[in-house]
Amino acid sequence: MTEEIRKGLAGVVVDYTAVSKVNPDTNSLLYRGYPVQELAANCTFEQVAYLLWNGELPTDAELAAFEQAERSQRALDPAVKRIIDELPLTAHPMDVLRTAVSVVGALDPSWNDSSPEGNLAKSVTLLAKIPAMVAYDQRRRRGQDLVEPDASLGFSANFLNMTFGSVPSDVVVDAFDVSMILYAEHSFNASTFTARVVTSTLADLYSAVVAAIGALKGPLHGGANEAVMHVFDEIGSADRAEAWLDDALASKRKIMGFGHRVYKNGDSRVPTMKTALDTLIEEYDRPDLLALYTALDETMQARKNIKPNLDYPSGPAYHLMGFDTEMFTPLFVAARITGWTAHIMEQLASNALIRPLSEYNGPEERHLAG
Ligand code: CMC
Repeated sequence: MTEEIRKGLAGVVVDYTAVSKVNPDTNSLLYRGYPVQELAANCTFEQVAYLLWNGELPTDAELAAFEQAERSQRALDPAVKRIIDELPLTAHPMDVLRTAVSVVGALDPSWNDSSPEGNLAKSVTLLAKIPAMVAYDQRRRRGQDLVEPDASLGFSANFLNMTFGSVPSDVVVDAFDVSMILYAEHSFNASTFTARVVTSTLADLYSAVVAAIGALKGPLHGGANEAVMHVFDEIGSADRAEAWLDDALASKRKIMGFGHRVYKNGDSRVPTMKTALDTLIEEYDRPDLLALYTALDETMQARKNIKPNLDYPSGPAYHLMGFDTEMFTPLFVAARITGWTAHIMEQLASNALIRPLSEYNGPEERHLAG
């Protein structure tokens, strides 16, 4: 029996989901039915997290209770800090974060409570604690002490305060919040599918999230936002973009931040993130960065007609905010934890073990001599 093999599961529909809808024909993305652009313009990341998990936007009372739950769990357990401290600075921040999340799971006595309530509670815990892990790691790499969480601040303002020791301007907080909303969810991408595969074995939520962090690290997926900044550094300035790109394409390099498995005519999230990037470019007075961004994009369109994806504007945005380049993909985790866990809960609600088939193409049956 020879079935058609779709490498990379390209074009294969593997299950239903009610969490989000990606429509490449209209370049649109809906979270629980709402266009992501509308959510980014009108909601906070906390409201979007609530929507992804509960299916509806919160009422004022529901939001207040949700915010209280998130704000009260932001501090890191001393054991998590100790283990992060033990890790060398040569460790990639994604490996530090993957380890820290794993420790939170191992410390949770109810790790095995996979009821909807139990998993929702774990999801809120991770949402609250991941920023502290990322901020702690960023600061220790700069020889700086931990900044304690501030329960008077919203998710994004607190995240930036814990990382940089002060709350930046509203422009920066808003741009960061928009990036969190845009990164929150994107249907059956590689890391979400990974989380669903692990969940389908009835392993716990923490195991699924740790596996998803591993999948997100790669440069073909979440690691691309970091890789985009390395490309910008390599090119240096707008006037060098054309020659750099021609060389890179001639040596068959994949240009990070461009292309997408599902969108072939532009990533629905890019215009919103580009607008946020523009506000940051103005705030930090960096027309040179905009010129480089535009030059590479225009040359890529002229040479290959391949459009940028979300990582293209978010990389330079996080750079302008002051994050080290290696920290960009952990920021993606801080947002995508919402989508991953929404999918974990959805998978469990109508679970079937995910176990596809393969077509064997190794040696014919043979036997040991003698
Ligand atoms: N640079 C150069 N050529 C490209 C690129 C790129 N970024 N993306 C696609 N192509 C070419 C590719 O070489 C191939 O050409 P040919 O048919 O001549 O061999 C054609 O376009 C189809 O590409 P593909 O790799 O078969 O398409 P895919 O659906 O398997 O890949 C992708 C999607 C995202 C892996 C790919 O576009 C890529 O490697 N992009 C760079 C990494 C990146 O930015 N990833 C972030 C993805 S979106 C957000 C996220 O997950 O973080």
